[in-house]
This record gives sequence, C-alpha cells and structure tokens, in this order.
Amino acid sequence: MSQDYVRIFDTTLRDGEQSPGATLTSAEKLEVARGLARLGVDVIEAGFPAASPDDLEAVRRIAVEVGNPADGGHAPIICGLARATRSDIDKAWEAVRPARHPRIHTFLATSEIHMQYKLRMTRQQVLERVEEMVSYARSLCEDVEFSPEDAGRSDPAFLYEVLGVAIRAGATTLNIPDTVGYTTPDEFGALIAGILRHTPGIEHCIVSVHCHNDLGLATANTLAGLRAGARQAEVTINGIGERAGNTALEEVVMALHTRPNLYGLRTGIDTTQITRLSKLVSNYTGMPVQPNKAIVGANAFAHEAGIHQDGMLKHTLTYEIMRPETVGATQSKLVLGKHSGRHALKTRLASLGYALGEDEMDQVFERFKNLADRKKVITDADLEALVSDELYQP
Ligand code: KIV
Ligand code: ZN
Repeated sequence: MSQDYVRIFDTTLRDGEQSPGATLTSAEKLEVARGLARLGVDVIEAGFPAASPDDLEAVRRIAVEVGNPADGGHAPIICGLARATRSDIDKAWEAVRPARHPRIHTFLATSEIHMQYKLRMTRQQVLERVEEMVSYARSLCEDVEFSPEDAGRSDPAFLYEVLGVAIRAGATTLNIPDTVGYTTPDEFGALIAGILRHTPGIEHCIVSVHCHNDLGLATANTLAGLRAGARQAEVTINGIGERAGNTALEEVVMALHTRPNLYGLRTGIDTTQITRLSKLVSNYTGMPVQPNKAIVGANAFAHEAGIHQDGMLKHTLTYEIMRPETVGATQSKLVLGKHSGRHALKTRLASLGYALGEDEMDQVFERFKNLADRKKVITDADLEALVSDELYQP
C-alpha cells in the first residue's frame, strides 16, 4: 500500500457500542457492518467476542456475511478484540476466522497507574505476557494487532520496549491508544514520532492511532499522529464511545479530504455514504447527534445570519468549506430567523413562486422581522401567510 494511504479502522461496533446505553442487537450490528463496508472502511472491529456469547455470535455473523461478500466485492478486514489471555484470544479467533481477512486485536496496559492498580503486574511481567500472547495470537492468525492500553500516559522508553517485544512476537499493526483522552496534539504527535524513531523493527509494521475525546482533542490528536507517520486511524461513526467518545470517523476523513495539500494523505472512504450511516447509527444506538456536530449535525450546512446567507447566495464557497453532497447530505439550508436578511427572504419567496415588487417586499420584510422576534425559525407556511396578508389585504 502506498505511503500516503491511511487505513480507516472503524470501532463503532466495539468501542462505540461501549457508550452507555448504546447496546445494539445482532441484526442492527450486521446492518451497521454492511453500511461500513459500503463506506469503504479497511477494518471493522466487530466486537469483543469474550464479552458474551451474543457478542461472539454477532462478530462471527459479520465475519461470515460482511467479511465474505458474495459478489466478490470489497472485503474489509474483520477484527475481534481480546484481552491478553488465551481464552479471550481463542474466542476472538473463533469469531473472526470465517472472514476472508481476519484480524485478532489484543491489548495490555503499559502505564504505571494501570500496571500497579489494575493489573497488579510488574514491567517485566507485562513484557513477558505481551511476548506470550502476541505469539499465541500470531500462531492462529497472520494479522495481529497489539495495543499498549493507556499509551498516552505510559513512559515512552517502556513503550518502545513493549512494542519491540510485540513486533518480535509477530504483531503486524501496533496501535497507540490515548485511552483516557489525556494528551494534547503536540504531545501525541511527538509520542508517535518517538515510537517510529526508537522502536526496533517498527518499519515493518503499521502504526495506528486510537484517541478518546475527554478533552475534546480526539480528532486533533489523531491528525497529529497521522502527520507524525501513523497510517491507521481508529475511529467511530459520530464519535460515539466510552465517556466523551472516540475520534469521529467523519471528522478525520473529511479533514484529510478537504485539506489534501496540508496532509498529503488519502483514505479509501466513499464520503457520500457518511450522512446515511451517521443517521443509521444514531437511530440504532438511540444517541442523537448534536445539531452543531461537525460534518453530520443538522446545522452543519445551515446558515442563519443575513451576511452569511447573502454570501452563500452569491457563492457557496464564501461560507462552506465542502459541499453537502460530498458527504451525502441533501443541500445547504438557509434558515430564516431574526438574523436573516432581505436577500435570503427574497430568494426563498421566489422559490415559493412569489415575485414581489419593491414596495411589497418592504412590507413583507418588516412583518417578517417582527414575526422573527417572536418565533425562532420562520417556516415556508409562515411566509405564505405573511405574503397573502400583504397581497390580499382589503
Ligand atoms: O482505548 C483503548 O485503550 C482501547 C483499547 C482496547 C485499544 O479501546
Ligand atoms: Zn478505546
């Protein structure tokens, strides 16, 4: 794969489903996985098979049906998560092995806090477990991803050592998680650059980034990691995930797409599928998308201020950095409210079939402003009423 290609690893069905209350049925998971394949993601992390028999079965169905498309089309890698234990790895393998391209993803924490309080393991024990479990996973599957959990708060020198062990044991992708969303873009970019510089054998592997959004920096950190040389981004649709969520797929993909000269990187995503999948995930998980959410929020392509609407009517590039159709949204919206101007009102009236003279327009505009002071959004029905009051008053 060429150096400028960024693999999109979607974990909506694993880390995303860990959002409180976002549980999906197997049928819903399958439908989302189909949507992800249509979107063109490179890897679908379909679940955590050791979590429950249901999860194992859901991952297996996705491996069978989405990981083996009958039409011979795009077959994404189907990945299952496993703690660094034999029984978890066995379950992950059982679930993903029917896929044309299966992957086992195993992880073990490397920060002092996690090793001391959660794992109660020494550094030496962690190194030994990584060696043993990555080798075991690799004895089953050719494609093995390893993540040092809480890498963002780990000692970089220890990280280089752990990653070196994982590479020698057969890991093919090394994922660097900022598990608690603690780092800033400068730090995270430097962490990835340091890993690429100091880890022996890293040039034979893909370095991946996996960021959480506790400080609202997940997308910025992911982009900093890609800039530093990572070539896989782990993301979720709408940014759903534990606590404040994961990096949003749509934000990273559209940042790379909209700023090709800045990053010089590309993905295999069909961006026109983004809005459709965002809606599907929101409906199935019951997690509404905030209106001002970048790319997929209801207001992402809506304009209310008169100056902006006037600009948009003259040239859309004045206030939009991408066309809504590029992400599969229907069209830009000029929302009529108290900030709107005469140009937008006149254009909307014309689209409703009213060509008013200047005097009539003055009257309607004045009434429109009075109404907008009382009502947040003026609908087409409101406009019809305003115009007929004006045109047909005795
Ligand atoms: O955030 C995290 O550390 C994870 C790992 C399991 C990769 O989700
Ligand atoms: Zn995570």
